[in-house]
Amino acid sequence: MKKLFAALVIAAMPALALGAAGSYELDKVDIDLTDKAAMQDGARTFANYCMGCHGAKFQRYERVADDLGIPHELMLDNLVFSGAKIGDHMKIGMRPDDAKAWFGAAPPDLTLVARVRGTDWLYTYLRTFYEDPTRPLGANNKVFPNVGMPNVLVGLQGRQYIGCKQVQVVEDGKKQFDPLTGTPITHEGCDQLTIEPKTGALSEEAFDEKIKNLVTFLAYSANPVALKSQRIGTYVLLYLAFFFVFAYLLKREYWKDVH
Ligand code: HEC
Repeated sequence: MKKLFAALVIAAMPALALGAAGSYELDKVDIDLTDKAAMQDGARTFANYCMGCHGAKFQRYERVADDLGIPHELMLDNLVFSGAKIGDHMKIGMRPDDAKAWFGAAPPDLTLVARVRGTDWLYTYLRTFYEDPTRPLGANNKVFPNVGMPNVLVGLQGRQYIGCKQVQVVEDGKKQFDPLTGTPITHEGCDQLTIEPKTGALSEEAFDEKIKNLVTFLAYSANPVALKSQRIGTYVLLYLAFFFVFAYLLKREYWKDVH
């Protein structure tokens, strides 16, 4: 009986995990893994705002520099703060035990997080921190309720809190418009993320862009060979097409005398 119960619990785990995150609708993000400028910007944000707590220990500085087209000198001067060498892994000095005591949970390594969570989740997570005085560090998150991570991007995004604002009415998953004038039908919603104007260094659009770049970098980091595999795939197909011509000519040559 115990075994059966354990089996059931294990079987339900993926559903439980998804259910836990599923209550907030994720914002979609369309990332482009060929956009090196975006990934360079993302790498910079990562080094400046995340590597105090999170490492990317399966990734080397050198590989990132080469893949994203950053000269080694520039990389060392601007993106490496720990005295690490260019060939080192992107590890951090914080000890997991200390981190656990400070934040209640150790900050996980982020090399592969884009594969585990998905890019939409990351994009939404990083934009939905909000003020919550009931939490030990004063911040909470829409897709990761009661998160242990502080709102480290508040200086860029500005103060975000749950407030009231006009939101478009949605029925059966469809946004509603006035049939006569075509204007959106709205009502006042009071569980809405609201940013206090002029409290952050970036406008809302610029902040979204910054996060998109950061997510693009994390997606690259989780699968650094993605682009290369596509390129190799193209070569293989080209080769096959090329080879086909000769195979066909050879076949014609062989069968010429048979007919
Ligand atoms: C002050 C330390 C700190 C900084 C700086 C920080 N984080 Fe975190 N982060 C944490 C902690 C602690 C957790 C674990 C939260 C938990 O499990 O409750 C976490 C969790 C996360 C998670 C969730 C991982 C998962 O799958 O559970 C992601 C993604 C993340 N951080 C991304 C970032 C990014 C991107 C940055 C830089 C913009 C960043 N963090 C900066 C402390 C930090």
